[in-house]
Amino acid sequence: MTDENGTVALAFSGGLDTTVCVSLLKEEYGYDEVIGVTVDVGQPDYEFEEAEETAEALGVEQYVVDAKAEFADLCLKAVKANADYQGYPLGTALARPVIAKAILSVAEEEGCDGIAHGCTGKGNDQLRFEAIWRDSDLAVTAPVRELGLTREWENEYAREQGLPVEGGDGGRYSIDTNLWSRSIEGSELEDPSTIPSDDIYKWTENPSAKEPELVEVTFEDGEPVALDGEDLDSVELVEQLNEQAGAHGVGRTDMMEDRMLGLKVRENYEHPAATVLLTAHEALEGLVLTQEERQFKAQVDQQWSQKAYEGLVDAPLTGALEAFIDDTNERVTGTVTVKLEAGHCRPVSRESEYAVYSESAASFNEEAITGGITQQDATGVAKYHGFQSRLANDILEDAKQGKTAADGSGNASEE
Ligand code: ARG
Repeated sequence: MTDENGTVALAFSGGLDTTVCVSLLKEEYGYDEVIGVTVDVGQPDYEFEEAEETAEALGVEQYVVDAKAEFADLCLKAVKANADYQGYPLGTALARPVIAKAILSVAEEEGCDGIAHGCTGKGNDQLRFEAIWRDSDLAVTAPVRELGLTREWENEYAREQGLPVEGGDGGRYSIDTNLWSRSIEGSELEDPSTIPSDDIYKWTENPSAKEPELVEVTFEDGEPVALDGEDLDSVELVEQLNEQAGAHGVGRTDMMEDRMLGLKVRENYEHPAATVLLTAHEALEGLVLTQEERQFKAQVDQQWSQKAYEGLVDAPLTGALEAFIDDTNERVTGTVTVKLEAGHCRPVSRESEYAVYSESAASFNEEAITGGITQQDATGVAKYHGFQSRLANDILEDAKQGKTAADGSGNASEE
């Protein structure tokens, strides 16, 4: 294709796409050297072992960057925004900017000429990576997209070239795992009518007769800081909840997702910690925010989630939305207890010093409301409530009857 020469930094996982890319970047793009960059956002250990082995077998120098804490902090920011996209808590989407920045730093430090990823031209990740990389002077290369490769072709090419790729069932699905979620795509799951077999799940047990369990989550300024009273850092907190809630089968999503390019895809996700934290956070907001804040924040949250899905967590709009989110979340301090039960997680208790709540005002057992307001004061409100609707409906009704009368008289005059 092109004759780049020099060195290219490749987003490297050791999976089929990136393994094939190593070879193609030399053969087709003319690079002399490929360095692989693997960014730790909480993938399981075996993925790093695999990546290391593959890099060694390919003779690729591999850099591993630890971005786990940075990523976990971003996930907790997403909690403040009650963030999800069509029901998906955005694990892959949130990880991409973190990964892209880490790879770019390595590429710049190592004086690379180019930077590459193994994403296809159909997904979101190409857009999320390049939104960050195209701010640099490096040549951006996407071999799988540019050469129009299919998984089948890649498997065949890997076999011919003797590249080390995992055969058999291990490579059946395209899986993306990080602290926040595990996504399973491909193979028979591409047919939206296929019911997935239970073995696609690795984080969540089949919701069974396990005894229900309570977890108390403590929030400070909208961010979870402790579980059952024990202070934990963001990584520990998410890891612990993934295990604890996963054991109850909490956090499975099987959905149709509208990708940025407009393609609809069937997605399967597991995200136990995300489900618990998002549920608990929203429950606490329900206690401390005013009705109008909750209504407006739902719109702000949705916009924040959209930018996160697009991989644009640094957009000016995202920052402006965060100003509102942070401001309202200064009061989201307190505890929520959730019940983990048979695949579900629901809030069962909430407490906060900022609760916008007066038990005596709401109680069925107290006569007075508050500030001298009594039940009888609601009579006037009740008289007015719905006034405009009643008026509009009456006018409509009259107009219809008037028309019937007019039609009637019209007919009469014809006779
Ligand atoms: N559709 C999701 C997203 O765009 C996740 C994609 C995960 N990739 C994978 N190979 N399973 O954020």
